Amino acid sequence: MSTPVIFDKKPVVLELEPGTYYWCKCGQSKNQPYCDGGHKGTEFAPLAFEITEKKTVALCNCKHTANSPFCDGTHAKL
Ligand code: FES
Repeated sequence: MSTPVIFDKKPVVLELEPGTYYWCKCGQSKNQPYCDGGHKGTEFAPLAFEITEKKTVALCNCKHTANSPFCDGTHAKL
């Protein structure tokens, strides 16, 4: 398994409306934290996740979380 690119060593906190989102796993999207197709040619694919009610989330930007797409604090150890 390849190692994702670290986009940022802190999460992005967003208030999301209900819907389906595609979190960038590879770290190469120019539309972080979402996939923009930049993973093409790599073994990565985006992670689809659902938000069922409006809420504030902390999405991982280091791409090394063990609880994707959410921040689990791993960025502090990178
Ligand atoms: Fe990173 Fe699609 S651009 S997973």
